Amino acid sequence: MSSNTLILGLQWGDEGKGKIVDALSKEVHAVCRFQGGHNAGHTIKVNGKQTVLHLTPSGILHPNVNCVIGNGVVLSLEALDKEINGLIDTGISFDNRFYVSSGCALILPSHISIDKIRDKKESIGTTGRGIGPSYEDKIARRAVRFGDIGNQDILRQKVELLVSYHNRLLVELYNEKPHDIEDVISEIMSYKHLYDKYCTDTQGLIYDWVKDDKSLLFEGAQGTLLDIDHGTYPYVTSSSTTAGGVSTGLGLGPKYIDRIIGISKAYCTRVGEGPFPTELFDDNGKMLAEKGHEFGATTGRPRRCGWLDLFALKKAVFTNSVTDICLTKLDVMDEFSEIKVCVEYQNEEPVYKTFRGWDSSTVGISAFENLPIQAQEYINFIEDFVGCRISYVSTGPSRNQTIHR
Ligand code: IMP
Repeated sequence: MSSNTLILGLQWGDEGKGKIVDALSKEVHAVCRFQGGHNAGHTIKVNGKQTVLHLTPSGILHPNVNCVIGNGVVLSLEALDKEINGLIDTGISFDNRFYVSSGCALILPSHISIDKIRDKKESIGTTGRGIGPSYEDKIARRAVRFGDIGNQDILRQKVELLVSYHNRLLVELYNEKPHDIEDVISEIMSYKHLYDKYCTDTQGLIYDWVKDDKSLLFEGAQGTLLDIDHGTYPYVTSSSTTAGGVSTGLGLGPKYIDRIIGISKAYCTRVGEGPFPTELFDDNGKMLAEKGHEFGATTGRPRRCGWLDLFALKKAVFTNSVTDICLTKLDVMDEFSEIKVCVEYQNEEPVYKTFRGWDSSTVGISAFENLPIQAQEYINFIEDFVGCRISYVSTGPSRNQTIHR
């Protein structure tokens, strides 16, 4: 019998989703992205070479797995072309197994200009990839969509309208240079091979697969606290990063999601601006950053680090109906004498519970009973507090450095 699984982040992204997505993706018929764009970053090794996937679902590494970019994703043709070419160079084939929804809103060069100039003024700390402005235009019903490339007249009409609007913003509001409409149209058309090869009705495909009892994996990007509705607004990304995004971003109802695996680090990190109540500014924070190699995969920016926020994690479990938690990077906490977790807020300040650290290496431990007792206590407390089973614990970057419970 088939089983469809959703994997998503329970914090501010970068929870280490990649490892578990990689492990599960080889067992499914298709891996589907449902939101976000090339703001996501997932570092993997392909044939010994380090590669970062921004758009392509990680199923692409397994030759028999289909990959879908659903309508909920905002699409940069330039980024997609570059990523596909890079992967083809390493020997990966996209033929007859890679599908992109005709409904994806395109990211145009003018979206990137608007994102960058605005972020200088409003300072959300975006990835500067045009994600927010592209989603704005989608909601405002003026987006150019991937499928529009199939009709030159419609494409021209829509680009003229949209880029004229962008140019007014850029010139009149931001004192920036306008974009040449003909250049934008030529640039889009220079990627027509992507439309010819990969553009399709992905909802129809998914419908057929579900009917044929195939197992699917839905791959989330970013994390729950960056969700446009349920995150730390306005310091969020512009998509629905939570479980509901699967239904809207791919066009299948929630009853087809059988299992929801939420990924959380054993501590917390955040890139970009915005509230982070448990952030550490002392040596503990530095130790997490250094030991955890906490630098953003997309922008290379250092990540802010802090204690685990169980109040937020419990809410994230509810928001997403998480069925299983995967706790990652436990080994990064090996050297602490004391570890804290936030259990509630009083007057907007975090209230902590303090644990004894385990002060010994957990790297590579793959059985729960072999963990130091303090680490077991830490994990059991998290599980009880948030009311959800921690089914996986990651103790290192390799696939076998994982505890399955
Ligand atoms: P945007 O998604 O580029 O609009 O950026 C909005 C916020 O989301 C910024 O704080 C980014 O740093 C953050 N963000 C976007 N994508 C990711 C991600 O994949 N991991 C972590 N943070 C992200």
